[in-house]
Amino acid sequence: MCGIIGYIGEKNPVEVLINGLKCLEYRGYDSAGIALKEKDEIEVIKSVGKIVNLEEKIKSQEIMESHLGIAHTRWATHGKPTEENAHPHTVGKVTLVHNGIIENAEELREKLKKEGVTFYSETDTEVVAALINKYDKDNPIEAIEKALKEVTGSYALGILFQESEDLYAVRKDSPLIIGLGKNENFIASDIAAIIDYTNKYLLLEEREIAHITKEKVEIIKDKKVIGKEVQTTNLERDAKDKNGYEHYMLKEIMEEPVVLEKTFKPYLENLDNLPDLTDYEEIHVVACGSAMYAGMIGKTLLEEYANTKVEIDVASEYRYKNIIYDRKTLVILISQSGETADTIAAMRKAKENNVDTLAIVNVKTSTIARESDSQIFIEAGPEIAVATTKAYILQVGIMALLAYKTALTKGLVKENEKVLQEAEKLPRLIKEVLDRREEYKKIAKGIYNKEDIFFIGRKIDYATSQEGSLKLKEVSYIHSEAYQAGELKHGTISLIEDGMPVFAIVTDDTIKDKTVSNIEEVKSRGAKTIIISNESWENQKLQIVVPKISPYFQPILIVPTLQLIAYETAKLRGCDIDKPKNLAKSVTVE
Ligand code: AGP
Repeated sequence: MCGIIGYIGEKNPVEVLINGLKCLEYRGYDSAGIALKEKDEIEVIKSVGKIVNLEEKIKSQEIMESHLGIAHTRWATHGKPTEENAHPHTVGKVTLVHNGIIENAEELREKLKKEGVTFYSETDTEVVAALINKYDKDNPIEAIEKALKEVTGSYALGILFQESEDLYAVRKDSPLIIGLGKNENFIASDIAAIIDYTNKYLLLEEREIAHITKEKVEIIKDKKVIGKEVQTTNLERDAKDKNGYEHYMLKEIMEEPVVLEKTFKPYLENLDNLPDLTDYEEIHVVACGSAMYAGMIGKTLLEEYANTKVEIDVASEYRYKNIIYDRKTLVILISQSGETADTIAAMRKAKENNVDTLAIVNVKTSTIARESDSQIFIEAGPEIAVATTKAYILQVGIMALLAYKTALTKGLVKENEKVLQEAEKLPRLIKEVLDRREEYKKIAKGIYNKEDIFFIGRKIDYATSQEGSLKLKEVSYIHSEAYQAGELKHGTISLIEDGMPVFAIVTDDTIKDKTVSNIEEVKSRGAKTIIISNESWENQKLQIVVPKISPYFQPILIVPTLQLIAYETAKLRGCDIDKPKNLAKSVTVE
């Protein structure tokens, strides 16, 4: 996902823009660029690779004095990561940066070519610049409005016009905020990029255009200037620091006990603070990646303990499927960033069908947080590492509390089940699990040079194994697969080679014996089994045993071990742990 930052004010824009790009690095990128403007002169500098390459390039040349600029980190969608394709793009009198995907770019490109426009890049962004330039008759707002009427797709744009000394911005489906400073203003994809300069901002909503000078911000919608409420972020400046940890991922894992306690607090005080799922005849859970696997745990708990049927799907499928809404349905959307394009689309599909939407979301100002009918906010704080850890644990925790509340409402909770007391123990027990890092380092040493690793489990342990496998893949780049333990023998067991690591997640007492026989199956074919469980195993060399707790919360003690094993393995392999290759923190494009 691309990152945008823009500045207008009295400072030297280069320092502000480069600092902002560095704060957006976690979103993933493969090239970067900057455009500076003073009077009718525009200077554009771009580079492939890390932002430090762009910095070097800027330092190596005479840079114009200016007080206005835009900058961009590009995560290639249309066209390879090259300097030509890097943003900003200039066509005629228009220079801009873009986050999103223009779906009808090729059709527009052909049309503009016929009108004499020459293109130098493969990007959809250059097409947008050409379109705005086509309509630019010294009225930037009009040019933007006319051009975007012809565009389909998603965009957040930072725009400079040759004839204007001001900064312009507009968005649809991709996030963009306007930072408010003293004699200076900003645009940014994410508040983290400008937190060093201001904590005050305006949220640009769908198709709103911002006309920005250093003194004033005008928001125009349907040709009228509209009022906007000033927001204040509680993001701490130090949230971007690692508090002494080597990586954001490790710091965020270590925050799990604290953020879990903070997230659970209102609900352990009063379960009525949670929505009542029994109001609905059907529950859909829709998400992507790790959020989806958190949803899988929620589905298992709701079905096993609250006798509640749950349909679950990845958002990229759900948004295009023929979903039959023939009864009172609640669609639960799980998303850390609240900006995942597929999950947004799934939410909007539900709303178009007059179906209630509940978001379990971390970023309170995100599109999903703002457009969903109701929300349960997890209190993970900013999650900078691309691989989600603390937010995932909280997503699982909220789904577990929803399942427990539903079971309670249906009278399905046994007298002796002290589930809320168990929940109170979680922060301390997670801390105990996290402190056993030497055990995880030892496991990591035994797997870091392997090429294929399996995770198996049954029922809730299968859902947990999915996240364990994804975490390992994401940060260590080792191929891994999660499998229903009972499914291996239907084909995939042919892949088991001598010494191949197979993690077996075994916590569900009702199905343990079956999983044991699956472990024996892979062992007899030479697999090196590593059992992650809530009880110790005889004659099992490699095992991690976590405290036994209510089944609602058992995954919350298992997953941190898998997160730390993934982390230690990635470290041994020298991977870029916080910014794994090809990945973005929030996938705001399809
Ligand atoms: C998590 O480690 C992954 N980076 C990814 O699967 C992520 O969970 C997924 O893209 C969904 O993101 P969201 O929670 O912000 O919607």
